Amino acid sequence: MSDIAVATVGGRDMKQENQAVSECSVFVGVSLDGFIARPNGDLDWLMGDGGGDSAEYGYDEFIAGIDAIVMGRKTFEKVVMFDKWYYGNKRVVVLSHHSLDLAGARARGGVVEQMQGSPVEIVSKLALSGAGRLYVDGGLTIQEFLRAGLIRRLVISRLPVLIGEGIPLFGSLAHDIHLSHIATRTYPGGMVQSEYEAI
Ligand SMILES: NC(=O)c1ccc[n+]([C@@H]2O[C@H](COP(=O)([O-])OP(=O)(O)OC[C@H]3O[C@@H](n4cnc5c(N)ncnc54)[C@H](OP(=O)(O)O)[C@@H]3O)[C@@H](O)[C@H]2O)c1
Repeated sequence: MSDIAVATVGGRDMKQENQAVSECSVFVGVSLDGFIARPNGDLDWLMGDGGGDSAEYGYDEFIAGIDAIVMGRKTFEKVVMFDKWYYGNKRVVVLSHHSLDLAGARARGGVVEQMQGSPVEIVSKLALSGAGRLYVDGGLTIQEFLRAGLIRRLVISRLPVLIGEGIPLFGSLAHDIHLSHIATRTYPGGMVQSEYEAI
């Protein structure tokens, strides 16, 4: 690929030097009232009734089409405490402004590295290292990438539960982001999964 390549940014094609093709996607579970976790980070409501098997609700297929997962430090701190490392040997890039201890995740087989910078810098760096298809995860992180116009695809699985307060999926924006609705699927437990693409 030449040094000047086409970068797909938020659905728009932009020519930028030293940038390869990138596509950022979100795949996230939310409560009906729009939270991705309780205020203390608990995900018990997500694991309970209403959800489904990951293969059934498309997660396995989604992750198979991803080169790397870009997650916020707070999400990393949560997933590293799970009973096992759920990302296999998929490249995981943890964002933080501070030095992180990644040894625990690596000891469990995780292919983990740390990065910081603006979303555009991170996406460009990853694209040049061969990771163009990115899964962006974590509330603040998703919001930051959305504000930067970098999210191309959103798959939002809404669970039939109100949790009242928590960590929100979405936040403030400088301007509206218009999306095109691709599909909505419903599941026996009551989960409703909608897929959108940036216009
Ligand atoms: N329901 C779901 O599907 C789902 C999915 C993902 C996460 N979650 C939950 O959401 C919670 C975490 O979300 P959150 O919104 O609190 O935080 P987050 O997005 O996971 O992490 C935010 C942190 O990431 C770092 N960061 C973000 N962008 C950065 C950048 N450009 N450069 C350097 N560092 C950057 C900063 O870490 P520093 O402060 O260290 O600099 C920031 O404080 C957890 O409880 C997790 O379990 C739920």
